[in-house]
Amino acid sequence: MTDGPDHPRPPTVAVSRGTWPRPTAARLIAIANQKGGVGKTTTTVNIAVALAQHGLRVLAIDLDPQGNASTGFGVEHRSGTPSSYDALIGTRTLRDVAVMTSTTGLQVVPATVDLAGAEIELVSVVARESRLKRAVATVLADHDYILIDCPPSLGLLTVNALVAAREVLLPIQCEYYALEGVGQLTRNVELVRTHLNPELTISTVVMTMYDARTRLADAVIRDVREHLGSAVLDTVIPRNVRVSEAPGYGQSVLEYDPASRGAQAYLSVARELAVRALPPDERAAELQRLGVVDGDIAPGSAAQVVPVPWPPREQREAAGAPVTAPDGSVLATGVAARTLGWPLRAGGGPSGHLGWPAEVASRRGDGSDRSAGA
Ligand SMILES: Nc1ncnc2c1ncn2[C@@H]1O[C@H](COP(=O)(O)OP(=O)(O)O)[C@@H](O)[C@H]1O
Ligand SMILES: [Mg+2]
Repeated sequence: MTDGPDHPRPPTVAVSRGTWPRPTAARLIAIANQKGGVGKTTTTVNIAVALAQHGLRVLAIDLDPQGNASTGFGVEHRSGTPSSYDALIGTRTLRDVAVMTSTTGLQVVPATVDLAGAEIELVSVVARESRLKRAVATVLADHDYILIDCPPSLGLLTVNALVAAREVLLPIQCEYYALEGVGQLTRNVELVRTHLNPELTISTVVMTMYDARTRLADAVIRDVREHLGSAVLDTVIPRNVRVSEAPGYGQSVLEYDPASRGAQAYLSVARELAVRALPPDERAAELQRLGVVDGDIAPGSAAQVVPVPWPPREQREAAGAPVTAPDGSVLATGVAARTLGWPLRAGGGPSGHLGWPAEVASRRGDGSDRSAGA
């Protein structure tokens, strides 16, 4: 970044500490994707802190027995600590189990390992899918945002989050397997909407862990935008080591290293989310008030990198047709080429990893991005 007197920072980098728009009613958002390691928890923690730093009242509920969000927020979550488990089972209210944090306006409901048993314990309970909805109803008036960090599964805990929420925020990692499982999630959201929660929508998609060195990352972003449209936020979260270091200190990256690219990107994502609380015709004026000029996209966004031209969808979907990059190299053939279309197969991955450039194949080979629940 070229800071200094001759190179003033662009307005999006210096996100002001002013207040962001307050929604007319509490926004209830489940951060969900049944894939592990896509950035659900990281997104929950950093958005929660960013919103609270800008004058909004935020409750973050950790609904993953692994308690990663609790770690990230730096709150106690040893077994036996009053937690989301108690609120689900009904032995305590959410207000009883929520703890204050060092960030003004931010409260957190921790998760402990006890929650792992809840999935089974709840099976025999009356209205087992709406336990969290009941618990949340009692605190709606206290908060502007209630964010629910879901576990990496589509079990009863996630269903409780989807029934309690009005919106789903879907983090998608900028990688080859990005859309894998998204079809399954959207079907589940559809099921919940039909049977249990007619209000539910996938309102927001955040692209995470963008790596400019991966030639496919831009193509993935474009693919996701093509399929999920205006729900996809303009800001893309870059892969940034500061983001992954912060939880080790029980902090969001906004506190750990506010100047880092990761922190700036998460601020920008949270601001976009907040501005979306406004009716569409008021958003542009609000962004202007916040100092964001039209077309000015935050650091880490796809707009700042040289795009990789990508073949049209029809070509990718054509059975067996090899997908080629502009330089003539074959990107995918057969099943892999078809699987790049929509909807992608849930789970398992395409069987035909044929024809990917060696560089791409080796990146995928280590499996590090696929370790569910990591
Ligand atoms: N933008 C990022 N840059 C670098 N590391 C990241 C970033 N986002 C997430 N991570 C790291 O990736 C791992 C998985 O992220 P996490 O938010 O825990 O995913 P999930 O909750 O979906 O399982 C964590 O170790 C986290 O620190
Ligand atoms: Mg998580």
